[in-house]
Amino acid sequence: MKPTALSRHLIEAQHQGHINADLRLLLEVVARACKSIATAVGKGALGGVLGDAGTGNVQGEAQKKLDVLSNEILLEANEWGGHLAGLASEEMDHAHAIPNNYPRGNYLLLFDPLDGSSNIDVNVSVGTIFSVLRCPDGVTEPRDEHFLQPGTEQVAAGYCVYGPSTMLVLSFGRGTHAFTLDREQGSFILTRADIRIPEETQEFAINMSNQRHWEAPMQAYIDELLAGKTGPRGKDFNMRWVASMVADVHRILTRGGVFMYPVDAKCRDKGGRLRLMYEANPMAFIVEQAGGACSTGRGRMLEVTPEALHQRVPVFLGSKNEVAQAERHHREHDARA
Ligand code: F6P
Repeated sequence: MKPTALSRHLIEAQHQGHINADLRLLLEVVARACKSIATAVGKGALGGVLGDAGTGNVQGEAQKKLDVLSNEILLEANEWGGHLAGLASEEMDHAHAIPNNYPRGNYLLLFDPLDGSSNIDVNVSVGTIFSVLRCPDGVTEPRDEHFLQPGTEQVAAGYCVYGPSTMLVLSFGRGTHAFTLDREQGSFILTRADIRIPEETQEFAINMSNQRHWEAPMQAYIDELLAGKTGPRGKDFNMRWVASMVADVHRILTRGGVFMYPVDAKCRDKGGRLRLMYEANPMAFIVEQAGGACSTGRGRMLEVTPEALHQRVPVFLGSKNEVAQAERHHREHDARA
């Protein structure tokens, strides 16, 4: 059978009534922008794009040249197509309404243009994460508050991982599908349809250097995993941490596992480390559509009511039964407290 290109996959989804023409166009445009980012990332030192931009974003993080460039690529690609009412990005303080000189559509796009960008200079996988929401009825110039919808309202979400190969992983609520970039043809080809995350796992991903800063239930949970075969879980666990959420989540979609960034004493006042609107929610959507789970440790991620565009949350995602174990520890601890 001939391989299925992303364009065909989306057109067929439109014909089946799963997405409309505007959403199809939006997803095509995001995919095209990801191809441009893949080219820039792939050039590495030869493209003159490595290193710091010399600026900071709203979160007080130093921006890499590729953070800024990827943000510009996504903005430029999406502004004029007529499918969006507004955009919001990790790299911009506030939401950006589509300028008056362009046609406006009914969707809102949120993105982290280049997640894990501390990995760029060391040639380790990075990625783009995005989330699509509907613009509330009657709103023509969306502001931050119009983006503050729970993750359950997402109509599509995805990420593109720039690794040894470039892969776009996408869901519009009909399963999670992965497309590999054919660099010669310049098109994304469906290489894994309807991904399923194994419910059980023996692999976890966490930044262990934060251990002493975690809350008590987190300490207890990881102690259990580290105790291995002779501990209460009765099995050995392996650990992996790329420090690039897209790459860690991609591994989990490939072979299972649990990814965790709990709240700790260093980030408690901010609510966590990872951002709800353009990191946790889109990943939660993709993971749930693949049969996995995503939680704050104390509730389903997709049901969190957002309060700010750049809000941070604790994140537990991946194999269903392991996310449930992490939740159990939090529940039991909270009940005792
Ligand atoms: O966006 C934040 C991020 O870069 C994620 O991609 C990654 O999972 C995490 O931070 C790494 O955090 P740390 O540097 O604390 O390991």
